[in-house]
Amino acid sequence: MNLLVTAGPTREPIDPVRFLSNRSTGKMGFAVAQAAAEAGWAVTLVAGPVALPTPPGVRRVDVTTALEMLAAVERELPACDVFVSAAAVADWRPEASSPVKLKKAAMGGTLRLVPNPDILKTVRPLKGARRFVGFAAETGEPTAEAARKLREKGLDLIVANDVTAPGAGFAVETNRVTFLFPDGRREALPLLSKREVAQKLIERLPCL
Ligand code: C5P
Repeated sequence: MNLLVTAGPTREPIDPVRFLSNRSTGKMGFAVAQAAAEAGWAVTLVAGPVALPTPPGVRRVDVTTALEMLAAVERELPACDVFVSAAAVADWRPEASSPVKLKKAAMGGTLRLVPNPDILKTVRPLKGARRFVGFAAETGEPTAEAARKLREKGLDLIVANDVTAPGAGFAVETNRVTFLFPDGRREALPLLSKREVAQKLIERLPCL
């Protein structure tokens, strides 16, 4: 069985030295890739710019921007049985990226942005019998927002977490998550290492 997973942030260039991004470190998505490989899945990991080693046995495709991540997912999706979208895709990108470093005086104080495509929604028409898993990182009680995203993005499972809760969120080794399923079932997990969360997620995949 083949698993495709995205991880990390995307980075949206303003010019060759400046960019927009977010606090994702890729730890959760890399843990999913590692747990899947250990469970015998053939794993392709599409990674944004992160400082993490590739888990053993995983095929890694590096990307920088959301548009590059979308192109990689569109290319890799046909060969996968399950797509886990753990990347923190930047919602917006600068309307134009300058090929040369912008002078401070020329920047003017206003940056025009355009929305990035939602990768899960864009590849939804290609889903077929594949299973799609998303993540919902929220500040505060996450399950209502996660349930909305589960429906809106047509997912088979969404992993909700409050990134401001102790031991959860970016750049930590642990996470406290709730799995939400389309039939309304919810499974709240205790505080676990990201590795254990990933293992639980991989265990649930055959039941989706
Ligand atoms: O950012 P948001 O909370 O909507 O993310 C929910 C899910 O959607 C995550 O699984 C994320 O990887 C995915 N997503 C995406 N493309 C985007 C934004 C988010 O596929 N542009």
